[in-house]
Amino acid sequence: MTLRILFAASEVFPLIKTGGLADVVGSLPSALMAQGADVRIAVPAYRDWRSRVETPQQRLQLSLHGHTVTVWEAKHPQLDAPLWLFDCAELFDRPGDPYHDAQGLPWLDNGLRFGLFSEAVAIAAEARETTGFDTDVLHAHDWQAGLSLPWLRERDGLAAGVFTIHNLAYQGNYPASLCQALGLPAQWWQIDGVEFHGELSQLKAGIVYADHVTTVSPTYAAEIQTAQHGIGMAGLLHARSTHLSGILNGIDTEVWNPQRDKSIAYRYDARRVTAGKRANKTALQQQLGLTVDDAPLLIGVVTRFAHQKGIDLLCDALPTLMRHPLQFAILGNGDPFIAATLRAASEQAPGRIALHEGFDEALAHRIVASADVFLMPSRYEPCGLTQMYSQRYGTVPIVHHTGGLADSVTDTTEQTLADGSASGIHFLNADVGGVLYGIERALQLREDSRAWKAVQRTGMARDFSWAPIATAYLSLYRKLINQRRPAL
Ligand code: ADP
Ligand code: GLC
Repeated sequence: MTLRILFAASEVFPLIKTGGLADVVGSLPSALMAQGADVRIAVPAYRDWRSRVETPQQRLQLSLHGHTVTVWEAKHPQLDAPLWLFDCAELFDRPGDPYHDAQGLPWLDNGLRFGLFSEAVAIAAEARETTGFDTDVLHAHDWQAGLSLPWLRERDGLAAGVFTIHNLAYQGNYPASLCQALGLPAQWWQIDGVEFHGELSQLKAGIVYADHVTTVSPTYAAEIQTAQHGIGMAGLLHARSTHLSGILNGIDTEVWNPQRDKSIAYRYDARRVTAGKRANKTALQQQLGLTVDDAPLLIGVVTRFAHQKGIDLLCDALPTLMRHPLQFAILGNGDPFIAATLRAASEQAPGRIALHEGFDEALAHRIVASADVFLMPSRYEPCGLTQMYSQRYGTVPIVHHTGGLADSVTDTTEQTLADGSASGIHFLNADVGGVLYGIERALQLREDSRAWKAVQRTGMARDFSWAPIATAYLSLYRKLINQRRPAL
């Protein structure tokens, strides 16, 4: 039987992306389809969507609490799964990224915007006569799609509900008054429902009402059940632990392929990793105004500037780090304080610290390909994708031992070098000392060119493809469908 899966999320690459969520929603569906499933991807119709998709066809028109939402089905040339675009101009036709205004502040009505999107998704999931799609599983991602799961249950549909937590820190918590604006049934307002410390939590809604909750790495699945990483929800997650699992993300191995990457200056494979990376390093140094020299260790950073990512720790470590033969190529945006600190550091160290503020997909590829090492000092990291991209490009990741970083990078020790599994460098403490320690270890390791190349090649040979992961999701979906409709 063909499984019909409806994905729901606020981002999908290449249509709209601010982080890894978009990469996952843009690539997992293709892997599911390659194994026989049929998938639709539901996203809000943000500004200019029409010019970026092909053949939009209207599927549904809904009237929800004073808003009209039109659902269009359309194709994106780079996506196998058709998109369902949820169009409501007053909610989604706005400039910039999906969440922030021109000042970088969250839109005040985000709770309403994504709450209504979520209800519309649940209705569309059940509207098989008009959409022609008989949803077996609604797979919702992060708080922006969280309310689709209680709405699905409320409608008493047959579809199973899966909720994936990509980041527990973004909870979609809003004043209780939003419940009226969203027309939520009164009985949802309880401690075993959507109420969270007197507020409406759209993340909690997903966790409570899904048939199964996943998160994006096994280590993070365990971490979020602890007080340290549970952000107020550890007890709830622990209570749901028999319906909670961690499935490590994969990556799009076509988009991130050093042999075919059109964004980078020179393409290469594992046999030509040293020469290939050196040529890219020279090109990037020229492009970013760094001193052209292979001797310094070039550290790449591509990230959102957010507390999670620990870039402030790097800022604090810079005065000590600058005594070492290092260069930095940093691409990021977000927290203005972190950006200003890095800007000042780069002005004081021209030729050694290059900062590019903004979001630039092609430059991200060039940094991943050109840097010697890729630094991720994240305080916590549900999965993290860039450490996988770097391994694929022979760029040694230096990571804090947490979440998906711990699960996808094997620390270099005598033993892992000997058994050929070493693929990067871990440090144990998310503090300045940890960052210094990680980078100093990389400097040492690079002195031993055979060991260095072995670590690079191990990373490049790793299988981060989605295929085996899609198999795991499909067996989860099947189990849930059988539980929900034992007769079928
Ligand atoms: P998160 O989703 O928490 O931001 P991930 O490592 O899962 O972290 O995914 C980040 C994704 O966003 C990667 O594809 C990365 O290359 C990309 N990215 C982050 N910041 C930028 C930026 N400033 N410019 C281009 N790409 C970026
Ligand atoms: C979130 C997490 C990141 C993860 C991504 C995709 O943005 O912060 O760790 O890789 O989602 O699952």
